[in-house]
Order: sequence, then C-alpha cells, then structure tokens
Amino acid sequence: MLAFLSSLPLSSKLSHSAFTPCSSNRSMTSAKPRSACTHPVPAVALASPYVPDLDTYTTLYERSITDPDSFWRDIAKSFVWKDNPGNESNEPVLNYSFTPGSAPGVNVSFLPNRKTNICYNAIDRWVEDPVKADAVAFYCEGNDPGRTRVVTFHELHDMVQRFANVLKNQLNVKKGDVVVLYMPMVPELPVAMLACARIGAIHSVVFGGYSAEALAGRILDSKAAVVVVTESVARASKTVKLKEISDHAIRIAAKSGHDVTYQIVTKTPGKLKVSPSAIEIPQDIEWDVALASADPVCPVEWVDSEHPLFVLYTSGSTGKPKGVVHATGGYMVYAATTFKYVFDYHENDVFFSTSDCGWITGHSYVTYGPLLNGATQVLYEGVPNYPTPARLWEIVEKYKVAQLYTAPTVIRALKGAKAPPPTETNPNPSSADWVNKCDRSSLRVLGSVGEPINPEAWLWYYDVVGEQKCAVVDTWWQTETGGHCLTPLPIPGLPIKPGCAMMPFFGIEPALVNGEGQELKGPAEGFLVIKNAWPSTLRTVYRNHKRMEETYFERFPGFYMTGDGARRDADGHYWLTGRVDDILNVSGHRIGTAEVESALVLHDAVAEAAVVGVPHDVKGEALYAYVSLMSGVEPTEELRKSIRACVRTEIGPFASPDTIQWAGALPKTRSGKIMRRILRKIAKNGPKTQRDDLGDTSTLTDPGVIDMLLSTYGK
Ligand code: PRX
Repeated sequence: MLAFLSSLPLSSKLSHSAFTPCSSNRSMTSAKPRSACTHPVPAVALASPYVPDLDTYTTLYERSITDPDSFWRDIAKSFVWKDNPGNESNEPVLNYSFTPGSAPGVNVSFLPNRKTNICYNAIDRWVEDPVKADAVAFYCEGNDPGRTRVVTFHELHDMVQRFANVLKNQLNVKKGDVVVLYMPMVPELPVAMLACARIGAIHSVVFGGYSAEALAGRILDSKAAVVVVTESVARASKTVKLKEISDHAIRIAAKSGHDVTYQIVTKTPGKLKVSPSAIEIPQDIEWDVALASADPVCPVEWVDSEHPLFVLYTSGSTGKPKGVVHATGGYMVYAATTFKYVFDYHENDVFFSTSDCGWITGHSYVTYGPLLNGATQVLYEGVPNYPTPARLWEIVEKYKVAQLYTAPTVIRALKGAKAPPPTETNPNPSSADWVNKCDRSSLRVLGSVGEPINPEAWLWYYDVVGEQKCAVVDTWWQTETGGHCLTPLPIPGLPIKPGCAMMPFFGIEPALVNGEGQELKGPAEGFLVIKNAWPSTLRTVYRNHKRMEETYFERFPGFYMTGDGARRDADGHYWLTGRVDDILNVSGHRIGTAEVESALVLHDAVAEAAVVGVPHDVKGEALYAYVSLMSGVEPTEELRKSIRACVRTEIGPFASPDTIQWAGALPKTRSGKIMRRILRKIAKNGPKTQRDDLGDTSTLTDPGVIDMLLSTYGK
C-alpha cells in the first residue's frame, strides 16, 4: 500500500506532499486529532480505477476547464438524446453568465438544443439488455432486520411505467406540473421520482422529518395538485404517521386557498390508495390493484435538456426556504459522471448511501447517479444504529458493499456508541467491536458528505471501518450544485489529507475571494466561490429568479457564491471552514437561523429570538436559542417545552433547539442589528467567556446586556 507513495507524479497545478500538515480549523470535537493527522495517509490500490494516477486527473481536469464544451460534449455521448440537432461541433454546450440581470430568466444552460429523458437513461436503456434487466437495482433493507425486498431493473421499469400512467391518466398530471412526494426510503419513493421524470412532471420531495406546516409551505409555493405520501414509517422503535401529517398539511394549504386535488397513499409496505379529494379519503385501493389496472407501457416524454427535473427546498440565510430548480440534461450528465469517478463505481459493485431522498444527496446519489450508471445499491429505510450500532456494518457484510456514503454525524455517533457487552473472549470491548464483528473486505471507497468531517472521525472511518484499505472521499457540494464539486478522487497512492476536500471535480474552477470580491492567489483563506458553470448548476429559485441572482451572484458578480468559507493550503488543496452566512449545519441538516427564529416568535409568549450554532460532539453543530419573553411572562420549564414544540410544529423535530436561554434583551447595534458574534461566544463558552474575545462591543446600544446574558447562562 505504501509503495505507491514514492511514485506519486507531481503536477504543476496540484502537488501532494507526502506529509500532511493538519492546520485546518475543522476539528470541532477535540483538539487531539491534529497530532494524529501529521502522518501521510495513503489511499489503496483499486483494481482498475477510472483515474489511475494524478497525471490522468490533471490532464482531464485541465481539459475540462480549458475546453469545457468539448469535454462535456464527449461525456454526453454516453447518454441517450432524442433527435440530436446534428452538426454537433457548432452546437451550444455550456452557456452561462454569473452576473445578475444579464440573462433574462436563466443564467445557465447545457446542450439547450437537445431533448432527453432522464428516466429513459436511468432505466430503459438498461432493460434493453435482458441480462441487465434481471440485475438488481435495489436491495431494500427495512427498518427491522429481516424485512427485505429486491427490485430488479425490469421490475423497476414496470413499476415506474405503471405509476407514470397512474399520474398521467388517473390523476391528470401534465408535463411541467409539480408533484410533492412525502415518503420515507422505500422503493416507491425513487419509483415516484422516476415516474414524474418519465412524463416531464417536476418532483418536489419533502423530507419525511418536516412538519405539516413545513410541508404545507412547500405545497403552497409550488401549487402542487398531487401529493404522494406513505402511510407511516418505522424509524428505530418509533412509528411516524406521515399520512396524518400530510392530511394536516393539505388542510392548511386549503385554508390558504390552494386545494390539493389528489393524495396518493402508499401503505407500509406496498399498498396504494387513491382519493379524489384531499381531505376525505373515501376508499382504499391496493397498490398492486392500482398499478395492475394501469397500462403497463408508458412511453417517455422527451423533454428539452433545460426542462426542469425537480425542485428541492433548502434553507437560505434569510426568509423562507428556497426552491432550488435543477434542469434535466445537465443534472443527468453531472450526477452520473461524479458518481462514476468519485466512487469509482464498476459493474457488479454494490453501492450504499445512507442519505434520504428528501435531501439532495438522495436525489443525486440514490435515485439518479447510481441508476444512470446501471448500479446496484442498497436502499435503507432505517437509522444507522438500530437495532444496534452494528447495523450499517451488517448491511455492508450482507450485500458485500463496495462503496459506502454517509455523513460525519453518523460516523461520530457510531464511533462514540456504547461498546457491546463484555464476553469471555472479549472482556474489554470498545465501540470498534460493533464494526470488527462484520466482514468489510468488500469495501473500497468510503464517502463523507454534508458537513465538515473532523480529522478524528475521518481517521476512525479510515482506520477502523476501512482498515486502512479504502480511499476516503470527503465530498463538498450543495443542493445548488447538484453534484460533487470539491473532493479527492480514489486515485491509487494519493495521500488524502484527513478532513480535507482537496481538489475540484472536472469542470469546477474554485477560487477564494476577499470581502471586496478580489481573487486571492496561493495559500489563502476567504469566501469560496466558483468561477465557471458546470452542467448541474442550479437554474433558478422556483418562481423567484430574482432571489437566485441576489443570493448567488450579487455580492461577487461574475462568481457563483457558495456561502462557505475555505482555506487553500500550500499544495493547492481546499479545506472547508464552515458557512459564512446564517446557515447552520446540524447533523448534516442545513437549517437557516432565520427559519428557526421565525418559528420561535410564532409562540405567543416570545417577543424576540436569536439562534446561533454551538459545536456539538456528534451533531457537528447544535442549535442554541436566545429567547426574550413578552413582558410579564414567567420563564418556566413548561414554557421551554412549549416553545420547542412550536418549532417542531413549524419546521420539524430536527430543528428544535438543544438549548433555550432566557434573554432579557438581545445585544444589538444602534442600527438594530443583532450581534451574533457575541451570542455565539457566550453560547460556546458560558461564564468562561473572555471580554477580549467578544471583539469590538462599542457599537452596542446597551453594553450591560453582556453581563445579563452571562448571568442567565445555564439557568
Ligand atoms: O456548508 C457546506 C456543507 O453543507 C452545505 C450544503 O448543504 P446542503 O445544500 O444541504 O447539501 C448537503 C449535501 C451536499 C455546504 O454549503 N457541506 C456539505 N458537504 C460538506 C460540507 N461542509 C464541509 N465538508 C463537506 N464535505
């Protein structure tokens, strides 16, 4: 394994020192890992990697930047397009403008003169080969071990066509209509997504942890007439009644003047009932019956490459969540290409992502990226530590998983799990024994996503889970980018730095700018921006293109602003340093502080609220809320509970603050702006907060507020 190190080629753009200085500030949970990562961490030899060495990466990367049109046009050849316009050498490929107002309606387009269908590319072209048709698309693993199901490409094709016909013929869904999907990780969810794509409808998946209010907001924003919901889902030992939540959401939407015409309910598992009215459900129709009565053949709708594929709501730093819109052709090409190269997916590998399709990771690396590569994968309904912390490793062993993709919060939780009970042969067990008892020899690539991974967790993933035999790919990207942007590739012998997103994927030109938008050269720290478009750049914010331009292009015209900070080291490698706006990352869930504050102030007793993030050992960040009560209201434990309940109702349980501190007042500048910097320091350090640490407090209207917050800390 170590033999590869000495033969590492060095490139002019990116060089790799064999010894990795870990000076990133990404260690959130402890100061210890810094010393642990001052040694080289070689990746293993993969049998036949797509990118065998760094020179190949550099050549491909440079071509993708200097001649993106020919680079992407060549990659696009491996997909099916309808009626190519001919004369391909002249056709527009990737057009963009990252300057606000310069393009009417859209800023980015990819192969805009072509037509395609992503569902055709994900399923139909595979089932044309009878052997591939019988290959497994999904190994479905239920919440309870033993509840399993296998879906082949042929069966997937059949279900998708039938469900597409249910949508089209029974529910009158037309091309361009939005269909809301509120479902857990059961195969009906990717089936429903693909069925929408097949007929040109736009899916809007809403994570099953969102509340009725949040679901209603998304239904209203997209004016969806159809909602698909699963009756209930088992999560560990709890049952969540999604249908009840959805009924409630539909009633809220109705009160705001929008009627959902149809609600389709898949039972758990596998039954469907269709109701002509959203509110009263007159009759159950079995899933099998509904699909059996549907025409089994549904020809695909060939849509323009720029036709919207889906809308996915994500938190912004201000206002309501925004509906990020991705377009068919570019998203298809980029999701598939990143999946292939970043996970080095080869035929017969089994891929396993623990992500939920309610987030972008599940869209790109459960539904689309894998199927577009004809991949076999595990679809897991449950949580990673149920019934024991060995569950993920049991799944890896059972299906001989080659690539595992999960979030740092999962890695930290499993690393910190209570050890199994001692036995005669193992009197001093540790949490690693949950892992060690399972065979993981099939694993080749370990992926991380969603939040910074601290080097300590990275090393556990690499050493314990991967037994130093797997490449660890820490993938940085966003809902808006549609696919991986910064990530190491599993290149044999590449020493990957623990906790470092390393280098750009093909077609991505990252840069760092200072507050004035000037590009910083060499080793530097600044705002992470991207200089050019890539095929799956978001196209717009649903029904609010102005918001797209304001959010991403206004502050630094000419660049795509990511909202993250980053540091570039002397080797040219990128280290993410966290969000530079008011977005928090709690257990990999992106949450806007403004969203939680709006939910808090809806409570009758709350006058004002400010939310900040504090470091948390497992979640990465936890929510810490400062709440000022209406005059005369007594702060009690009961009140805390009911304020938390208000957030659960408005957004969902995952957004409920860990801590609520009563604050007689909030620290504000004379212009009324809350000084969050002060709130963050006090939340983190409590009474140990050093005055000098708070920075300039001279602009505070009432400097006494600091003493008051310190004295009420922890009460
Ligand atoms: O702050 C970055 C963080 O997650 C944000 C994007 O969140 P979302 O749109 O929900 O997508 C998550 C899944 C792609 C980013 O702006 N983030 C994501 N991946 C990483 C990360 N931060 C550090 N390292 C990562 N690998």
